Amino acid sequence: MTSKKSKILILGFGTVGQGFFDLFSRKRDMLGLNNVTISEIVDMKFGHIVDPKPDILKEIANGKTFPQKDVISAIKESDADIVCEFTWLNLKTAEPAYSHVKTALELGKHVITTNKGPSALKFKELTELANKRGVKFLMKGTVMAGTPSFNLLDLLPGAEVKSVRGIMNGTTNYILTSMEQGKDFSVALKEAQELGYAEADPTNDVDGFDAASKITIISHILGWKHEFSDVKIEGIRKVTPEQAKEKTKLIAYSDKSTIYVKPSRLPKEDILSGVSGVMNAIEIETDTMGKIYAMGPGAGKIQTAQAALTDLMKIVKG
Ligand code: HSE
Repeated sequence: MTSKKSKILILGFGTVGQGFFDLFSRKRDMLGLNNVTISEIVDMKFGHIVDPKPDILKEIANGKTFPQKDVISAIKESDADIVCEFTWLNLKTAEPAYSHVKTALELGKHVITTNKGPSALKFKELTELANKRGVKFLMKGTVMAGTPSFNLLDLLPGAEVKSVRGIMNGTTNYILTSMEQGKDFSVALKEAQELGYAEADPTNDVDGFDAASKITIISHILGWKHEFSDVKIEGIRKVTPEQAKEKTKLIAYSDKSTIYVKPSRLPKEDILSGVSGVMNAIEIETDTMGKIYAMGPGAGKIQTAQAALTDLMKIVKG
């Protein structure tokens, strides 16, 4: 059991927030987190929920709502020491998540986020702020959900990363895999939308911005100097079914001096060429281990909640 009592404030109670509440509640005893509680939730639709009951997911599914509360005031007035930021993605200004994270860190609260906005666009500023306040700013869920990715490096002390390469967007990998069977891009995209993988506005995925934000976050974590605006981005709209058949994948790549996202034809021997459907995969090349790989889901309700739980364990177990 953890000795220190911790309280969690959840911001945003959509798919990820609800997934986290569910997973945390189910795994809490097993993980010895009896001293950790979800004490508050704030959501634009459901309102401000204080001391949520175990059946809160049923209550909101049945239409129950709570008094509205401005998110920034909720952060300021909360006695929670951990804030989970699960609100929506904005890859232009990172708002409102950026202000949420900044406010929480300024108040000396740990922050866990699955939001690529503040993680990709404001990493340096927010990490410096967290360091200054002696708290953690963690974002595992931004890259490949709960599937180990950059956090593999926690297991390799001293390993120096030479390069990172991966398939970090499930929607485009699903589309390219469908196109291998001869379907046109537009037909495969429609299929991905019908299955709920691609958004109604698929730009972030198909034009490469989502993958670009992820490789930027990895590059930030590795201490490389690339910014999101430095990433050379090419999406998959121009890929033909013939190219897809030849194992063209949307590859995100970075080393110390280069960063890009582009469709790349992979030789058969390349492990990444065998990654199909919505799966994600990463290759990390290090000085001590050569190339290591991880493959798994990069999205999903419980899969993303797993990432937040991974971050929570880092905070409460030190
Ligand atoms: N839209 C992303 C993908 C999932 O298709 O991989 C969230 O990062």
